[in-house]
Amino acid sequence: MNKRTKTALVSITAAALMAGAAQAAGKLEIFSWWSGDEGPALNALVKLYETKYPAVAVDNATVTGGAGTNAKAVLKTRMLGGDAPDSFQAHAGQELTGTWVVADRMEDLSSLYKSEGWAAKFPKAVIDLISYKGGIYSVPVDVHRSNVMWYVPATLKKMGVTPPTSWANFITTCATLKAKGMATPLVMGENWTQQMIWESVAVGVLGPKGWNDLWAGKLKFTDPRVVGTFTTYGKVLDCANKDASGLSWQQATDRVLSGQAAFNIMGDWAAGYMTTTKKLKPGTGFAWSASPSTNGTFIMLADSFGLPKGAKDRAEAINWLKVLGSKDGQDTFNPLKGSIAARIDSDPTKYNVYSQSAGKDFRSKVIVGSMVHGAAANEAFTSGFGSINDAFVSNRDAKAAAAASQELATKSKIGM
Ligand code: GAL
Repeated sequence: MNKRTKTALVSITAAALMAGAAQAAGKLEIFSWWSGDEGPALNALVKLYETKYPAVAVDNATVTGGAGTNAKAVLKTRMLGGDAPDSFQAHAGQELTGTWVVADRMEDLSSLYKSEGWAAKFPKAVIDLISYKGGIYSVPVDVHRSNVMWYVPATLKKMGVTPPTSWANFITTCATLKAKGMATPLVMGENWTQQMIWESVAVGVLGPKGWNDLWAGKLKFTDPRVVGTFTTYGKVLDCANKDASGLSWQQATDRVLSGQAAFNIMGDWAAGYMTTTKKLKPGTGFAWSASPSTNGTFIMLADSFGLPKGAKDRAEAINWLKVLGSKDGQDTFNPLKGSIAARIDSDPTKYNVYSQSAGKDFRSKVIVGSMVHGAAANEAFTSGFGSINDAFVSNRDAKAAAAASQELATKSKIGM
């Protein structure tokens, strides 16, 4: 080979390499509120994506704040400003369909469901939540349970009480614990975590049918039964800490773990926190039961990711959705998150005893949607309910809370 040919070959190879690199060096921005203590499950999923697509630079954009209170506001600004992330977290249900789908901002993923064979892999109830007028608009990564009461067995043993199974029983147990010197038997955190207590009380008082009727517009908030949910909620609040508004859900969980409080009502991301971050063993380090009076019901919510129209890195985002919807993806994410896989074919051996029991309950209990986490009610109602909760926490006026909720439901077109 003469020198000229050799030089030419070298430059051709370099050019080819550069072209190849340019082709492979994609990027992907995913957006969620899973950071810090809430990050490990998502980080593991991102790692799995990076193993499959090593040339793609993933920007794991997160906005801290439980239940997405801060992230959802940032997302709104970005979406309206034409700066959509490539894929973002949204709760399956009204939060996704009633906001971004009706506004025609999301891509219909039906063809992806077809090519991946997902119609048979996700429960119909979950697919229904993410469907709108024949299209399917996101990929669920998990199923969480909202109505769980957490406690530490050693604390209850020391205090001589057992986990209450009804709200009436809860209120008696609370009095016992107070008499024994525990000032705040129930610990709660900031506003949305308080709403979760109301949600559990309401499902307990109204039953699943009454709860569903509420969101179908068939039961008015002003009905005496619904007023009764606020009355009971008020009694439950009397068992709780007064500094709740300054506590994150993790800090509230910490108070149960330290023995300062006996109970916390929280979704089972708390199980993820206690096992993945706190390294506790489910069953001994902490234990659980359905929140009082809701043993037959599974209040569900599902986190999902969708593909906004105009995503800058659409091909990479579709691959991201493929990874998170895969069996491997779900069994990587959920054991760390405290949730169960949204897919029906997950590998039970990868899950701890808490998640195995949640999986069993998901298959055997009556499923209803969570209001607080976007499954049952639209964003307009859910965000407006925060102020109603704040007012009720300070004035304890059950009738006023019920009337304000009905006004909000009408304004938010609940059941229409
Ligand atoms: C929920 C979400 C869970 C968990 C929780 C606390 O809305 O569905 O996955 O992140 O908030 O932030």
